Amino acid sequence: MPRSLTGRRHMFIPGPTHIPEQVLNAVHIATEDQRSPDLPSVTVPLYEKVKKIFKTKSGTVFIYPGSGTGAWESCITNTLSPGDKVLIYRFGTFSMLWSDMFQRLGLDVNIVDVPWGTGTPAEDVERVLTADKAHDYKVVCVTQNETATGVTSDVLSVRQAMNAAKHPALLFVDGVSSIASIDFRMDEWGVDCAISGSQKGFMLPAGMAIMAVSPKALEANKSAKLPRCYYSWEDMLKTNKDGYYPYTPQIPMLRALGVAVDMLLEEGLDNVFARHHRIAEGVRRAVKEGWKLSLCAKEEKWESDTVSAICVPEGKDARKVIAAAYSKYHMSLGAGLHEVAGKVFRIGHLGDLNELQVASALAGSEMAMRDSGIDIEPGSGVAVATEYWRKSLHNV
Ligand SMILES: Cc1ncc(COP(=O)(O)O)c(C=O)c1O
Repeated sequence: MPRSLTGRRHMFIPGPTHIPEQVLNAVHIATEDQRSPDLPSVTVPLYEKVKKIFKTKSGTVFIYPGSGTGAWESCITNTLSPGDKVLIYRFGTFSMLWSDMFQRLGLDVNIVDVPWGTGTPAEDVERVLTADKAHDYKVVCVTQNETATGVTSDVLSVRQAMNAAKHPALLFVDGVSSIASIDFRMDEWGVDCAISGSQKGFMLPAGMAIMAVSPKALEANKSAKLPRCYYSWEDMLKTNKDGYYPYTPQIPMLRALGVAVDMLLEEGLDNVFARHHRIAEGVRRAVKEGWKLSLCAKEEKWESDTVSAICVPEGKDARKVIAAAYSKYHMSLGAGLHEVAGKVFRIGHLGDLNELQVASALAGSEMAMRDSGIDIEPGSGVAVATEYWRKSLHNV
C-alpha cells in the first residue's frame, strides 16, 4: 500500500520552480480580449521591465508561447542561413540538445566535446576564432548554466576571447537556467541572443520562450535565409511595437510575467543573485563537508548557483535516491541525464526559494540516500549548511 502523503510536494528539480502566490494569482484571471485597446498598457511596459532582467537597453525582447527550446529555434532561424558555421562546446544534455538542433536545422556545426563537469573553455574559443581568418563562423554558443551537470560558464571571458580574436561572429547564450538567478549582462558582455524560458528564474509555469536580441542580431535577421514562420521576429516586430501580437497571446502568462519581474526588481537583482549564491554555497558545503561526496562540477570555478549535481559513490545508483525521495518523502529531485544517468542526482536551488526550504531538500536527500544504501552520517549535510546559512545571514 503506498503511504498516504499529505502536505506540500517538495520540488527540487532545477525547473519548473516554485510559483509564488502573487504570480499564481496573476494567472487566475478572466478571459481578456486580445485586440482590446487596453492590451498595450499591459504589454508595452512589460517589455521594458523584462529588458532590465536581461540588463539590456539596446536589445529587443521577444516573448513567444513555447519554452527554452523554442527560444533556441527562434534565435537560430532568425539570424542564420543554411550551411552557416557554428561553434559550440558540448558538456551536458542541454549543450548537446542545442548542438543537435543546429545540425537538424541544416547548419555546419563544429561541436567540440569537453568533459562533462566543465564548461565553455574561453581560451579554446580564442584559438579557434583566431585561426578562422575568413570569418566563416557566424555564431559562438555558450550554455551559461548547464543544468544537467551544475556547471556555469563564464560568458564575459568568451566575449573577451572573441574580441581578442577580432572575430565578428554572433554570441548566443543559453540562459534558460541562469537568467534571473545568476548574473547576466547582455549589453556589457556583448551578447547577441540571450535565450530563456518562463519556468526557472522567472518563477512562472512552463509555456513561454523569452529572449532578448541585440541590434546586430536584428541586422543579421534581414539577410538570414533559414525558413521560419511561427517564431519569426519580423511578424513580432510589426505588431509588438503597438502592444499586440501576430497570433492569440497568452495574456494571463504575460500578466504573471509582469508580477514576477516586479518581484525580482523589488528584491533587486544583486540581492537575487546573492541569495542564490548563499543557498548554493550551503548545499555545496553540505555535499562536500557533511556528506563527504563530490559534485559533478570538476572545479570550483564551474560550480553553479542554481543547481548542484551530486555524485553518488561508485557502485551506488542515484536513480534509487530519486525514487525513494519521490515515493517516501514527497520530494522531487533532478535525475542524472545521459552520460551521468544513475551517477548523479540533482538539487535545483533556483527561483522562489529560501534557506529553510532548501534545508528540507538536504534532509530529504539524506533520508533517501540512506534508504538507498549510501552511508552518509544522518544530519551531517543539514548541520553544515544550516550553520553556514545562520552565520552568513547574520549581517544580511
Ligand atoms: C540550460 C537549458 N537549456 C535549454 C533547456 C530547454 O528548455 P525547455 O525545456 O524550456 O524547452 C533547458 C531545460 O531545462 C535548460 O536547462
